[in-house]
Amino acid sequence: MKAPWITTRLPGPKAQAVIEKDHQYTAPAYGRVYPLVVKQGQGMVVEDVDGNRFLDFMAGIAVANTGHSHPLVVQAIEEQARKFLHICGSDFYYEPMVKLAEKLSRLAPGDGDKKVFFTNSGTETVEAAFKLARVATKRQHVIAFHGAFHGRTMGSLSLTASRSSHRAGFSPLVPGVHHVPYGFCHRCPYHLNYGSCEIACVSYLEKSLFRYEVAPQEIAAIFVEPIQGEGGYIVPPPEYLPMLQDLCRRHGILLIADEIQSGFGRTGKMFACEHWGIEPDILCAAKGIASGMPLGAMIARSEISTWTHGTHGSTFGGNPVACAAALATIAVIEDGLVSNAAEVGGYLKDKLDQLKSKRAVIGDVRGLGLMIGVEFVRADGSRAPDAALRDRVMMKCFERGLLLLGCGESTLRFCPPLIVTKEESAAAVEIFDAVVSELG
Ligand SMILES: Cc1ncc(COP(=O)(O)O)c(C=O)c1O
Repeated sequence: MKAPWITTRLPGPKAQAVIEKDHQYTAPAYGRVYPLVVKQGQGMVVEDVDGNRFLDFMAGIAVANTGHSHPLVVQAIEEQARKFLHICGSDFYYEPMVKLAEKLSRLAPGDGDKKVFFTNSGTETVEAAFKLARVATKRQHVIAFHGAFHGRTMGSLSLTASRSSHRAGFSPLVPGVHHVPYGFCHRCPYHLNYGSCEIACVSYLEKSLFRYEVAPQEIAAIFVEPIQGEGGYIVPPPEYLPMLQDLCRRHGILLIADEIQSGFGRTGKMFACEHWGIEPDILCAAKGIASGMPLGAMIARSEISTWTHGTHGSTFGGNPVACAAALATIAVIEDGLVSNAAEVGGYLKDKLDQLKSKRAVIGDVRGLGLMIGVEFVRADGSRAPDAALRDRVMMKCFERGLLLLGCGESTLRFCPPLIVTKEESAAAVEIFDAVVSELG
């Protein structure tokens, strides 16, 4: 399928009809970003109901890591669907779930034994980690970060702090959550400079939080995204995660890595934690795990997986079709997509870096592998974030057949399927640059 290929005004007539009906019948809570009405997808290309074709650089929010409807994943789904669709993995046994648990416990960083709990989504995975952390440590408090996104159900929403609008109206949330600034050097929350800051974003915990607010013996866990996703594709400084891990070990606090967006090859490693050699006590996975089938997995070190029979469960979590899709997805990712993400991601980032030097409205280009963010700022030299421009660029790119997505205050993310080529990346950057030069 050739893309981009835009033949109607957007939304086209068929898309418009679907949108009107959607607005009549679906919950107004959904925050749709642009009027994309999908008919089908294949590889890097998404086609809408009017026959317009788009180059996908958002992968259904960093989910379609193997590309849309990868034939091996579709085959695994079909084969499993013909055998059985459901029996409930919380109450009975089946092979795809066990095989996947074994695979994930080997893949997740750390040599020791691990135990896997399956869910249907990212947020449920974080809920499970939150519950296990309290049970395993017999401590009640937890730490999360400003800018963090861990999901929208009550427990994970209590950890989420990427936008106050996510939380507005839903309080009281789960008590015992302490939010602290994340390691974001480009806009350092402490107004310090990397090199002379002594990584204040970690030392703050001991110097301030533990001293004035809550003792470390009361903290069950620190939830951290190794690279913040919804918060703006923020890569922390090199010392940050190793220092957090060290702090956790010294105080008996569990380190919980939310790799829901950064996992499964996205950053050029199977899991982003590997960039820093850290080994979390619990790793939360979802999104790219099964190429779009609803599945999440919480992978915990066996020593801390101390909850007993019936403590937690899920009717659908670890569904056999989703597990079969995940096993096929992982096989495809292991067959060259991790290295492709590193190589093409490096190429794409270089190209975007080059744009930064010629476009004053691009304030920062950051990321690892195919998790790259481009931050928009005002061109007046103030470095003030320009969310309105970011939104206009995203919309215009859509109209030209390039799918991108916002994150953070004024960032656009490039998170294509991991099958993306250099040629497709160059084509995307060309469209993006033309739009930025026109609007910026
Ligand atoms: C890092 C992270 N954690 C958790 C979630 C929540 O996942 P879900 O939408 O599947 O509940 C997301 C979703 O964007 C995420 O990016």
